[in-house]
Amino acid sequence: MDDPVAGSQTGTHVEVLETAAEWRAADVADESVWTEVFGPAELEEIDGALRHALAKSRDVLEISRGDFPLPTLRPRLEKIEDELINGRGFVRLRGIDRGRYSREEMEMIYWGIGMHLGDPWPQNQYGHVLGDVTDQGVDPASPESRGNEIGAVALPYHSDGSDLVGLLCLQRPRSGGLSTVANALAIHNDLVRESPELAAALYEPMPYDFRGAEPKGARRWYEMPVFTNWKGRLFVRYIRPYILASQRFEDAPRIPELAERAMRRIDEMTQDPDYNVFMELLPGDIQFINNYHVLHARTAYEDDRAAGLVRHLKRLWLATDILEDRPPHFQRNLSSEWEKARSVSRIEIGKAIDGGSRVGAIAEPAEAG
Ligand SMILES: [Fe+2]
Repeated sequence: MDDPVAGSQTGTHVEVLETAAEWRAADVADESVWTEVFGPAELEEIDGALRHALAKSRDVLEISRGDFPLPTLRPRLEKIEDELINGRGFVRLRGIDRGRYSREEMEMIYWGIGMHLGDPWPQNQYGHVLGDVTDQGVDPASPESRGNEIGAVALPYHSDGSDLVGLLCLQRPRSGGLSTVANALAIHNDLVRESPELAAALYEPMPYDFRGAEPKGARRWYEMPVFTNWKGRLFVRYIRPYILASQRFEDAPRIPELAERAMRRIDEMTQDPDYNVFMELLPGDIQFINNYHVLHARTAYEDDRAAGLVRHLKRLWLATDILEDRPPHFQRNLSSEWEKARSVSRIEIGKAIDGGSRVGAIAEPAEAG
């Protein structure tokens, strides 16, 4: 969400878009359809690529696609990328043996596979291109808390800020924390079919709370439409809690009644089992989603630090080559401070949380998640 630009589409004729990528829960009930399991030869190729990368550097920031060679797996990854952008919009990669690798090795494997799907996209003002998703003891009620920092409450269906969003599961919590996705494309299209005036309301710019991530001295909210039709492709940015939070600023525009109703309807639809699918992420599993076609959420969870049951995922935001053309307000701003600050988030899981403060030395809020 770097330097977003308001994109008014006043007068936009709303229409059903990209019907080929719509799905209903019944279409994805068979998990094997969206679970890509690596075979033994592919896993050995991944292991070889890991050794190749580590021979160059242990720092993922120094590892590019070429440093993580996957000659036979690459065509499969290209198909997966195409399915993410032009098809179902989500996938679970399975088969990497968490027990075989250290955390650093897992991160490098994840990074290496990710580099074959797109370019890293900074996730926050600290330039994190490999982020942490774990309960950091942040108060969920804080206006500057981020979804990736909290655990005790469920996260509603929302968007992140890039083309593709990846999650690698390193550890699971004691209970809860189930990942789920809803097809934003089907929801958009059904909203257009049932009440086009509600859909049209979300093609207008909406105020979003920057949650403290704005450039120094800048306005503390920004505007973006929830729906954008860009040359026949649907782009979605929906983070309702941030939209609602923007109302704490007196200079932010008030949310129109019609837009409120439209968002309530979207939330109803995301909760409808016909539009969503729940997925379990086991240690070693990797989820990738098309952030514009799929909204994601997770159930509340509870860690047990003493027992080592602490939910810990690593997050990638990627810019895919397939989507060279994006609406102006969905562009990556390569000159932004976020790009210049590129870094890796490193949270030491297992360190005690002191009275609800953040973990260890990491005192940085991460981006929407
Ligand atoms: Fe998220």
